[in-house]
Amino acid sequence: MCGIIGYVGHRQAHEVLLKGLKRLEYRGYDSAGIAVLNSSLKVFKKQGKVSDLEQFIQDQDVSGTTGIGHTRWATHGAPNDVNAHPHLSSDKKLAMIHNGIIENYDTLKKELEKKGHRFISETDSEVFIQFIEHIQKHNQCSLEEAVRLALTEVVGAYAIVITSKDNPDQLIAARKGSPLVIGVGEEKKEYFLASDATPIIEYTKEVVYLNDQEIAVINGDGLSIKNLDDEHQNPYIQTLDMELEAIEKGGFDHFMLKEIYEQPKSIRDCLRGRLIAANGHLALGGIHKHYQELVNANRIIIVACGTSWHAGLVAEYLIEDLTRIPVEVEYASEFRYRNPIIAPGDIVIPISQSGETADTLAAIELAKEKGAIILGVCNVVGSSIARASHEGAYIHAGPEIGVASTKAFTAQLTVLSMIALMIAREKKTISEQKYLELLYAMDAIPEKVEKSLELNAQIKYISSIYKGASNFLYLGRGYNFPVALEGALKLKEISYIHAEGYPAAEMKHGPIALIDEEMPVVVIAPHDNSYEKIISNIQEIKARKGKVIAIVNEGDAVIETMVDHVIKVPRTKEELMPLVSVIPLQLLAYYIALDRGCNVDQPRNLAKSVTVE
Ligand code: G6P
Repeated sequence: MCGIIGYVGHRQAHEVLLKGLKRLEYRGYDSAGIAVLNSSLKVFKKQGKVSDLEQFIQDQDVSGTTGIGHTRWATHGAPNDVNAHPHLSSDKKLAMIHNGIIENYDTLKKELEKKGHRFISETDSEVFIQFIEHIQKHNQCSLEEAVRLALTEVVGAYAIVITSKDNPDQLIAARKGSPLVIGVGEEKKEYFLASDATPIIEYTKEVVYLNDQEIAVINGDGLSIKNLDDEHQNPYIQTLDMELEAIEKGGFDHFMLKEIYEQPKSIRDCLRGRLIAANGHLALGGIHKHYQELVNANRIIIVACGTSWHAGLVAEYLIEDLTRIPVEVEYASEFRYRNPIIAPGDIVIPISQSGETADTLAAIELAKEKGAIILGVCNVVGSSIARASHEGAYIHAGPEIGVASTKAFTAQLTVLSMIALMIAREKKTISEQKYLELLYAMDAIPEKVEKSLELNAQIKYISSIYKGASNFLYLGRGYNFPVALEGALKLKEISYIHAEGYPAAEMKHGPIALIDEEMPVVVIAPHDNSYEKIISNIQEIKARKGKVIAIVNEGDAVIETMVDHVIKVPRTKEELMPLVSVIPLQLLAYYIALDRGCNVDQPRNLAKSVTVE
């Protein structure tokens, strides 16, 4: 939440900053601002999107080769021009951008007010920069030292970048709990700082991921990193494996649609080198030290939020079914505050697309303290959750920019299915034949997803019929119950239609009361063990005049005689059906949102990377 960017070098900073902020806009889009340094320190900020800021600065002098920028997801204070970042010190010599939350800002603010400081915004970030200013003046020390001292006193999470009028070629950055990447330009003559690597890769692939509680100082001498005890740290420069096309729309109207269409490829990428059906090979290179502990686990606990939590629910069905290891799936936010029972040797699997979700990160820390082994399932390489895990597997979905998660979900399911199958084979809880059948079935999933995407035109048509609905119900059973939850979440997130997912049989314990001719009900009804039962559920809905959109398998001739619309997706093994059945639900949400004129990639109030608790 909140995207930050900094630049120092030979280019016009504002160009790098604005371009970068657009790439980071998925992290928040309430307001945006930049500060640039030439002979003076100038701040430009505006409520709204980066494009509003861009318009605002059109006729202004924004020249300068050092600068910082911010796109905000409001926490403290309304989204307006004043609360927008960068924030200035009271002498207006320092400007700061901040992603995170300073929990003791109120105490600090009161102390500073007693000392004569005045604040113009309602933000914790303005308190933060004035606190640094106060320390620098009081101790007569360098800015770097003032930042270090301030960081030993602030409580909370931050990724910050500070620029100073007195040192126009210098940027000081620090992080704790919120991400920060430093791009090292050619010949180390220019540097880029950002919340993630997407604004950087256009210029350089050499990056340093700043660790928690580290301070980076960039100036004419290059980059130096120290910890909070003032000890030098060796920057570890990594080369990014990411192409620019991966973060552009590539001819699609929206990132979400592009990402939906990328799924055959992202699933293939996820399987590549890991699964070779023809010789029964299945291995995840990232899980080897703790492989035996995973296989022999007494219990697996999955912690996640949002769509990743839904992937976790599917994994619960999969792992319990195939391996007989008990699995618990927890909302990370609940897990961390309820004193959970974790025995040493329990395996905790955090699932996170961004790898930065604050609640999931905190749940990991708690589980680690209690002796659990953490096997992370993340998309963003080098992210905080990936680094906080003992081992893990990347899902290799490539950058996901649309706020509503799509390709990350299917890639998460792919990795989780592989984990379940690896354990099951090792434990011999499934026969070799079943193992091989499932391997072949997984191998064929990208093709089945491709076929499901061919339903685009039909789904677009169905969406146009139901775009005016005020409520939607999504029903599924077994493996497809979490898919119902995910379908409802997608619709809520981007179209603002109230939608709920339910296990189909639970409908009669409440939601059935809502059904009338106005209520569209999406029923996921593939040919599996629950098929007959779900037909009864469909009849219950039709008896009450509900409108049914059924997701069925190709060849199904029964359900179409009962319902208003059938969407026929290819058949696969029951265990893998969510990988296919979710596709039409993603498209349905997309087209309904589009028909309603919603901003599909940047839905109101949401952010993609939730770095606040
Ligand atoms: C936010 C996003 C969701 C995402 C959830 C968990 O709510 O809008 O799309 O599923 O966070 O994020 P993570 O990055 O941990 O998977």
